[in-house]
Amino acid sequence: MRTTQVSALLGLAAGAAACAPDFNSLLKRTHRQPLSLAKRDEQWPPVLSEHEAILVNSFDNITIDQWSYYYGRQDKLAGFGKEAAEWTRDQWAANGFDAHLNEYNVFLRYPISTSLTFTDAEGNTSEVNIKEDVLEEDEVTGWDAVSQQTFLGYAAGGSASAEYVYAGRGSIDDFQALVDLGVSVEGKIALIRYGGLFRGLKVKNAQDFGAIGAVIFLDPGDDGEVTVANGYAAYPDGPARNPNAQQKGSTLFLSTRPGDPTTPGYPSHKDAPRADISDVISRIPAIPISYGAAEPLLQALQGHGVSGEQVNRTNWVGGLDAGYFTGPAPGVKLNLDTEVEDAFKDVHNVIGWINGTESDETIFIGNHRDTWMIGGNGDPNSGSAVLIEFTKALNHLRTTTGWQPKRNIALGSWDAEEWGLIGSTEWVEEHDVWLTENLVAYLNLDVAVSGPRPNLGGTPELHKLATETMKKVIHPSFGAFNQTLYSAWEEASGGLVGVLGSGSDYTPFLHRGVSSLDIGSSGGRTDPIWHYHSNYDTYHWMATWGDPGFHLHASQGQYLALLVYHLATDDILPIDVPNYAVELRAYYDDLAEYAAEQGADLDLSELDAAIEHFRRSADEAKALERLAVSRGDEDLKKVVNRKYRDFQRGFISQGGLPDREFYRHVVTAPGLDTGYAAVTFPGITEGVQYAENGDFSVAQEWVGRTARGIVVAADILKT
Ligand SMILES: *[C@@H]1O[C@H](CO)[C@@H](O)[C@H](O)[C@H]1NC(C)=O
Ligand SMILES: *[C@@H]1O[C@H](CO)[C@@H](O)[C@H](O)[C@H]1NC(C)=O
Ligand SMILES: *[C@@H]1O[C@H](CO)[C@@H](O)[C@H](O)[C@H]1NC(C)=O
Ligand SMILES: *[C@@H]1O[C@H](CO)[C@@H](O)[C@H](O)[C@H]1NC(C)=O
Ligand SMILES: *[C@@H]1O[C@H](CO)[C@@H](O)[C@H](O)[C@H]1NC(C)=O
Ligand SMILES: [Zn+2]
Repeated sequence: MRTTQVSALLGLAAGAAACAPDFNSLLKRTHRQPLSLAKRDEQWPPVLSEHEAILVNSFDNITIDQWSYYYGRQDKLAGFGKEAAEWTRDQWAANGFDAHLNEYNVFLRYPISTSLTFTDAEGNTSEVNIKEDVLEEDEVTGWDAVSQQTFLGYAAGGSASAEYVYAGRGSIDDFQALVDLGVSVEGKIALIRYGGLFRGLKVKNAQDFGAIGAVIFLDPGDDGEVTVANGYAAYPDGPARNPNAQQKGSTLFLSTRPGDPTTPGYPSHKDAPRADISDVISRIPAIPISYGAAEPLLQALQGHGVSGEQVNRTNWVGGLDAGYFTGPAPGVKLNLDTEVEDAFKDVHNVIGWINGTESDETIFIGNHRDTWMIGGNGDPNSGSAVLIEFTKALNHLRTTTGWQPKRNIALGSWDAEEWGLIGSTEWVEEHDVWLTENLVAYLNLDVAVSGPRPNLGGTPELHKLATETMKKVIHPSFGAFNQTLYSAWEEASGGLVGVLGSGSDYTPFLHRGVSSLDIGSSGGRTDPIWHYHSNYDTYHWMATWGDPGFHLHASQGQYLALLVYHLATDDILPIDVPNYAVELRAYYDDLAEYAAEQGADLDLSELDAAIEHFRRSADEAKALERLAVSRGDEDLKKVVNRKYRDFQRGFISQGGLPDREFYRHVVTAPGLDTGYAAVTFPGITEGVQYAENGDFSVAQEWVGRTARGIVVAADILKT
């Protein structure tokens, strides 16, 4: 049974969140693209050029299935994944790419043992089941490997034995609400619901509010229609979430900085000096549990503390049979025990390359390869499988037509992304001068497929390329009628291109001022539940529920190939700078409204003027482009392409955002208390958000710094 219906969805699947499949919290303050009025202006069937058709027709579901199967049976936990790296290198090389391994020595933390026990008010204790059951139908769930254990990356080892308090999603506001209600988490264990902010920030907030341990549970209230409560069978028998499934993942404080925590700002070579990590890693133990394990823990708080209804916060009450009381319940305790082993381990990126005719213009495509479990067929094997098929398609185009790209095409298969975007961040830190001088765009794949609904995030100058290219790809299985990827995407997203926050490997590129896109597709309210970061994210799930026949994989690959083809081949780079001006103005309006709501009396005139200056410069660049094309002037085209390649570098602020040097882009950054979701004009917006005693001087200072970044970008475009 496949439950893919076009009708009752929407509301979910807003941003392209990649490793962060979190629907509800995204895009709080981000700009909604105007819906195109001519909804069905694409041609059917799509009209393709000869080269485009060769690329599109090269995608073969049978080979994609093979790549997915291979990756689904490899230990790819960071530090264990060299074999899959070598295999990836060999596949790319067989398809005509120069390919090599690139090694870093990074700090990781592995589980040795983990246990959780529950003590009731009478002192009876029982084990809480924290293991994911082995499924007979899905053989790899029974493999014996470190990666099959239940743990959270970088969580501290230690013991915590205390009463516990339910803390909603675990945001700062959630913990503050507890304080305001007179419920203290001081010395307690925080029981936190998954969703919304990045899990590492849940643990950070628990720690900051005085908790001594954190237990993070999945809640079927976040699963849309397809739940056991609604009568669906659970995986492997049906499309609902297995009640025993966990969500593993990193607890690094991602919004402070990604990368190897011991080497902030420089690459992790073996002999690199190692820095203190206490600013990005928690001191308290933390583990994930399933919804099946969480239900009795919530029930045991029933009638104690404040009821969920009285707390009265969005997403506080979930889908389990409980009143979501805060607790604590006197004498009702958890005992969390974790033992971990710290290690410096070699991790391996794979870098691939083909030369273009212009040596100083490069298009980079990246996808991580590491996983929290043996499988990982959604995250990220779907992207990894698509990337191999992509190299095959490019090779086919080259060998059948003699095509050579104008621009270099580089590939990255990143390791240790899951722990904190480590492989990509270390690589960027090692090559930052080169990439500042050469990179035109970075395209990210991560969860290429976890369901049928395309999603898209990206910087504004790439919106047009990204949406127009979707009109050239046929969507295989979404809805009852012929449809392009574009209309499927528009249906799912409401025509909203996500603003890039963080949660996948575009982050280090974006914060060096590189135009970036993040593409993928995921499930909505009525689709089979994907077991994100669980041992049940497997080939068997993908072949049975996620993408039987692997046609969604093929369509994502076709889309990627056409994007890269145009970025690497078009005479004039398909970069639409006037749209950046449009988006800046929209972010400005959002900011002005937010500042007014918060009572922040900011003088925004410098920002206003900078945006206007940018708009004029973008229009001038566009006019120069027209002139270069109409005259057929190759030198002038080169001038225009340089402007398009480089203008984003202007947005990069030396010294970075307040207290987080890594994040340098003055227009967007992951929110400090979201980790995944973006905040626009982060220096100003967060200067308002975290102002103390009505002192908005930081925000005002950042009005100037942001405006200056925009002026630098504008001056790169100016003629
Ligand atoms: C706790 O244990 C006592 C005896 O050891 C038993 O009578 C009681 O029912 C138990 N309580 C619960 C809630 O299981
Ligand atoms: C919950 O909050 C809303 C708006 O803040 C309010 O209208 C409503 O009465 C509250 N409900 C309860 C049960 O307090
Ligand atoms: C790509 O170009 C570089 C420098 O121009 C050259 O050294 C290298 O051999 C070329 N690689 C391939 C695969 O042609
Ligand atoms: C889908 O498009 C094909 C041509 O590509 C056409 O033959 C077919 O009738 C269309 N089906 C529907 C249901 O519109
Ligand atoms: C490939 O697609 C064909 C046509 O839909 C389907 O019959 C076949 O089972 C698919 N193969 C795989 C390996 O998924
Ligand atoms: Zn991922």
